[in-house]
Amino acid sequence: MKNITNLERKFVRSIQSYLVVYFSIAVLMPTIILSVLGTYIIYNQVINRAEVKVLSDLNSAKEIYKNTISHLETVARLTSARNFIINAILEKNVDTLQYDLQQTLYNERLDIFTLVDSKGVVICRARNAFSRGDTLLNNECIQRVLSNKQIFSGTEIINAKELEKESYELMERASIQLIKTPKSRPNEKEVETEGLMLKSAVPIFDKKGNLIAILIAGKLLNRNYDIVSRIKDVVHEGEIYKGKEIGTSTIFLRDVRISTNVKNKDGTYAIGTLVSEEVYNKVILEGQRWIGDAFVVNDWYIGAYDPIKDFKGNVIGMLYVGLLKKPFDDIMWSTILIFVGIGIGAMLIIFIVAVFLAKRITTPLRKLEEVAKKITEGDIKQEFTIKNAPREVENLANTLDHMAKELEKEKQELEEWADKLELKVQERTAELKKIHGQLFRSEKLASIGKLAAGVAHEINNPLTGVLTNASLLLEDLPEGDPKKEDVKVIVNETIRCREIVKRLLDFARQTKPQKKLINVNSLIENIILLVRNQTSFRNIVIEKELENNLPEIMADGDQIQQVIINFILNAADAMPKGGNLKITSKLLDNNEFIELKFTDTGIGISEENRNRIFDPFFTTKENGTGLGLSISYGIIEQHGGTIYVESEIGKGTTFTVHLPIKSPFEE
Ligand SMILES: Nc1ncnc2c1ncn2[C@@H]1O[C@H](COP(=O)(O)OP(=O)(O)O)[C@@H](O)[C@H]1O
Ligand SMILES: [Mg+2]
Repeated sequence: MKNITNLERKFVRSIQSYLVVYFSIAVLMPTIILSVLGTYIIYNQVINRAEVKVLSDLNSAKEIYKNTISHLETVARLTSARNFIINAILEKNVDTLQYDLQQTLYNERLDIFTLVDSKGVVICRARNAFSRGDTLLNNECIQRVLSNKQIFSGTEIINAKELEKESYELMERASIQLIKTPKSRPNEKEVETEGLMLKSAVPIFDKKGNLIAILIAGKLLNRNYDIVSRIKDVVHEGEIYKGKEIGTSTIFLRDVRISTNVKNKDGTYAIGTLVSEEVYNKVILEGQRWIGDAFVVNDWYIGAYDPIKDFKGNVIGMLYVGLLKKPFDDIMWSTILIFVGIGIGAMLIIFIVAVFLAKRITTPLRKLEEVAKKITEGDIKQEFTIKNAPREVENLANTLDHMAKELEKEKQELEEWADKLELKVQERTAELKKIHGQLFRSEKLASIGKLAAGVAHEINNPLTGVLTNASLLLEDLPEGDPKKEDVKVIVNETIRCREIVKRLLDFARQTKPQKKLINVNSLIENIILLVRNQTSFRNIVIEKELENNLPEIMADGDQIQQVIINFILNAADAMPKGGNLKITSKLLDNNEFIELKFTDTGIGISEENRNRIFDPFFTTKENGTGLGLSISYGIIEQHGGTIYVESEIGKGTTFTVHLPIKSPFEE
């Protein structure tokens, strides 16, 4: 079952089967029509020719038949013209006559040679010396010769009695057993006893011209094969087809075959059989010629029948010639065979052409199918070449190739894009982390700032009270009072406290920057001028690398100055034994930010502390407040900028500040 379905799958609805089926229809239809028409036309032509030939054969046969009668006439005429015969008649020398006629009868192979007197009485019979004296006056032929005194020749039926008078042997020869065949016309008779006789009756005159006798020459056609043999020899030239004689001829007495060259299977002549009803009606009853297919003994013939008439014009028999139909049927069959051969040949050629064509189409298509399958499976890089394919298939291949290449390109692009995306994501994550840190720090600053502000506010008033009272007490105490020094300490420490509180408030207030265009470079220059002479900068070299065309930025000058001072002071704190402070400024590539860098060669910041330096109150210094960096951070953040720190213990620290040229918070 499975094999069948596979086979079906291969051929049903395949290009090959389509080609075979449609080609076959296109070629076989005309071939079949042509075959049928061709065979029909050719066969008809052949049969027509055959019928024409049969008719001409029939005419030839008739000619031979007539010649035989002529021969009888000639023999009778020549004999009757002899003086010896005339004298013998006049002298009634019967024995001499009988002997003489007998000689001629045998020489000329006659069946009857009979002499009658002017009254129709038999003078002598050549064949039978003892049969004489009877009258033949009732014979039609004799009557005519007597009345017309002319020669009469023709065919007539002679009954058994008459034949017996001529000779017993003739009567026997005439008697034919009838053989009934399925196709033959019904006939009640068992035996045909009559004979068909060719006859010539010649009048004999004396010297005065009186009719003294009639000489009758006759030939019995029953079982006489001379005529049919001659017809066979002359007309058909004894032609044989596949062991059978092509030409046949037959003489009928009415409907009975009495002489024929058609033989039975046992080699005897096929006499005694009867003609068909159709032929009988047409030829015997209507007296017309009949032509058509006739089944004679064993075979089919194309036959023609001509009526044989007696002296009165009654049809008494038929002359038949036929051509064996087999050669013509064989022509038809070989014609059909040729057409069938052409059909089969065409089918074969169609099949081969279709298979070849289908291969040319399907082979590249299958290859394409495979390629497409592999592409679907993800194997895009498919190298393939399609050769000698139809243009459409080649186009398909090119499209597929193009598609594969596009796919490959897109795949690559996708991969590149994915890589880029990953990088971007990493960058973003890092950035987010940073922002998160900054946010966290800002929030911390804000909450601590609020707390600090509250505390500072609460402390400020009592501190003012302490300072006022301590100052008054200091004024009130006389010089040299030992308590005066203590009160002084109270006043100074209170001032210091107030300073811290003030700073705290500054930090907590986070006043909104008063932005205007400022030149950061000149800001740095001024600060350097201010700090340079201070003792803590004695051993420190300040190096500056300020970009000439640094654009002015929108910022609060006081606050930025505070940030810068803070970095510079912190750097100095980190380098108690002196060192190098490098300050640089430049415009960043994006043209949106300026960058400030403060690099010192100080003690550096430990990893642990690096996260805490921006926290308020974180300090490592004895007198530090831990507010400088946290305030700076707040200011830079308010300006939309950023601060980074890089540091290595013992080597130094770099603070980097990015500030936007145009403040993002500007309205
Ligand atoms: N340039 C620097 N080198 C080394 N440490 C520094 C530097 N700048 C700041 N620091 C560290 O950061 C801490 C916090 O600084 P800051 O907020 O200015 O407060 P303070 O200066 O009052 O300590 C400092 O105590 C110090 O430990
Ligand atoms: Mg500081």
